[in-house]
Parts: sequence; C-alpha cells; structure tokens
Amino acid sequence: MATREILIWPDKRLAQKCVAVADVNDDIRALARDMLESMYQANGVGLAAPQVGVLKRMVVIDLQGRDGAPSGEPPLVLINPVFNDMQGELTWEEGCLSVPNEVGQVTRYARCVVDYTDLDGKPQRVTGEGLASVALQHECDHLEGKLFVDYLSPIKRNVIRRRMLKLKAERERNRPVQAAAL
Ligand code: NI
Repeated sequence: MATREILIWPDKRLAQKCVAVADVNDDIRALARDMLESMYQANGVGLAAPQVGVLKRMVVIDLQGRDGAPSGEPPLVLINPVFNDMQGELTWEEGCLSVPNEVGQVTRYARCVVDYTDLDGKPQRVTGEGLASVALQHECDHLEGKLFVDYLSPIKRNVIRRRMLKLKAERERNRPVQAAAL
C-alpha cells in the first residue's frame, strides 16, 4: 500500500467527469487500497479517485474511520456508483480533503440508494441516511467534477479559492527538490 498525494482545489483534474471502470482488476484493487490509506492518513471519511488524480468512477467511504485508523467495519468501496432513489432533504456542514480546513453548508437528499460494483466485480446496493447519505452524494459529485464549494455563494467560493491558491503556493515552495540522476 502507498499513500497518494491528494489534489487541492482548484485543479483541472477535480473539475472533470470521470470515466467508468471497465474491469475490476488488480490495478483497481491496488488503487482502492491506496485511496483508503490516503484517506485514513488525512483523517477523512471519504475520498474519490479524481482526488488522487485518477479520473475513474470509484470512491471509498469509512464514516467511523478517525485519527488515521480504520473503523474495524469494512470500509465501502464503490465502483461505478449510480443513484437510483433519493428522498428528503438535509443540510450538513461539509468539508473536503481537497479543500483543507474549510467548511460550507450544503443541502442534499436525506436518504439515498446507490447501486455499485464491488472489488470482486459483483453488483451491490447500499442505502445511506444522514451523514452516510451526505457522504455518498459528496463523493459521487467528485466523479462529475463537482465539489461542495460549487454549492456555495460565489462570494464564499472565491474567498475559499484565494485561500487554497495561497496554500498551494506554500506547498509548492516547501516541496522537496526531486533528485535527478543524469
Ligand atoms: Ni470531497
């Protein structure tokens, strides 16, 4: 397993529609393991493949995972997720690993049913309520190139955007220089 760098918004790769996973093979299973490890290390509860620069329709969620440790429950790995029922409404204060240290209120469906393919290539269905419903919609939005900041007012989004550009510039400055053997 290896952690992968989580992209910070704004980034072109976070704004694209992802492509379906055609074959659930060992590469996809390795990607799922890397995504989970990256998510736990960043203290997140969900991560979508485009957040690690892979434009494929795959997300991982572990709502109990905290402080860099898995919950003990098997985490959800959803490949090619499709919503087939959505009901009700709830407003949650959301954050995102690609928008560090920022939150914003987003109104979403309170309950949703999602069909997906699992890591064995088998069809599965999950029903989410409350935070689980929010997480499913938030992560699947990433596959459409959409982030929670897209639900905020242009003014709030721009404030966050400026802070993220500053953060990215700081990270670039602090990035270790790659050694090249020539
Ligand atoms: Ni996110």
